[in-house]
Amino acid sequence: MVTKPHSLVCLLSSLITLFLALSCSSPPEENLSLKSSGGPAMSLTKEIFGYLPEGQAIEIYTLANSQGMKAKIMTYGATLVALEVPDKNGVSEDITLGHDHLEGYLKASPYFGATVGRYANRIAQAQFQLNGQTYHLAANDGPNHLHGGLKGFDKVIWQATPVKEKDWVGVHFSYFSPDGEEGYPGNLKVTVTYQLTSDNQLKILYEAETDKPTPINLTHHSYFNLHGQGKGNILDHLLMINADYFTPVDKQLIPTGEIKLVKGTPWDFTSPHPIGQRIQEVPGGYDHNYVLNKEEGELSLAARVFEPQSGRIMEIYTTEPGLQFYSGNFLDGSITGKAGRVYPKHSGFCLEPQHFPNSPNQPNFPSTILQPGEKYKSQTIFKFSVQK
Ligand code: GLA
Repeated sequence: MVTKPHSLVCLLSSLITLFLALSCSSPPEENLSLKSSGGPAMSLTKEIFGYLPEGQAIEIYTLANSQGMKAKIMTYGATLVALEVPDKNGVSEDITLGHDHLEGYLKASPYFGATVGRYANRIAQAQFQLNGQTYHLAANDGPNHLHGGLKGFDKVIWQATPVKEKDWVGVHFSYFSPDGEEGYPGNLKVTVTYQLTSDNQLKILYEAETDKPTPINLTHHSYFNLHGQGKGNILDHLLMINADYFTPVDKQLIPTGEIKLVKGTPWDFTSPHPIGQRIQEVPGGYDHNYVLNKEEGELSLAARVFEPQSGRIMEIYTTEPGLQFYSGNFLDGSITGKAGRVYPKHSGFCLEPQHFPNSPNQPNFPSTILQPGEKYKSQTIFKFSVQK
């Protein structure tokens, strides 16, 4: 039998790929596949996701493990673009809302999957006082400052370095935020490292250093739907939040300063409840910060979400003191996202580990001020499993 030239080419290219995959010393940038000695197969690849109007290329990294989990993260906003997670039958599905192309993120994204900073959530009247000086920030939510301002960390380009270890693959992102950016004091060096582990955890580690005192509050802003993105709403998901208290808000979603018991209110998720069960009793839907039950700085369970049909379970662990629960109230069907799916109200939920909103103006909330010489460190883990 004659071997067709086409199959010869295929054979040759497979051999080359295998050789490159095995030679760990300098894997090619575009395909960083590896099989670490003895460890489970993990892969890491890099592509160009698109170009900004000014011409800069935006890269996207795909992390995959052998359990059917895959995470795609781009350098624009250090944004999680897709997260594929297996269901109880081993079928993987993308469970985060977002866009298939970069243009979608530039056109219409309510922080889908983004890294949010310098200060996630709201700062009242877009100002705060620090060491006797008043700082004015960009007002981008009525009179208030939201999620870092007009061009927050979700809209900047991060420098990426792929990382491969025995039990995880990841990407280390760094960004330099100059003194005065969006009104904040101090040059801030910030890094965010995403890691996908062999046992279905997506870990995010944040670090930062400043040369002047500045508020800082970094978070991750994925919209999850454990049915699969674009497949109905999240009102049937069973949610547990490990918090006996929350911070009530005024009409502009600014905390009143009160720290209130959840017991006897529709905010009580200390035992699992369907998200939709009492949502009608909450004006506008859930968009509140919970005060997590924990020792200061401890990495502990913040929330657990279970979607019975798929059997998917997501647990969140964090070192942060708070968790913003947002039930996708502002989604209104005007955004068409991945795979042409439309995103109506409550088609995704966010659970954002963070410090409390408006902390720079609330002396009774844990401090968010980073001092020169100190190192900001924060960790969040999204851990996936199934229940049959
Ligand atoms: C956060 C806020 C919400 C909303 C979304 C983005 O979760 O708490 O009020 O601004 O981000 O739309």
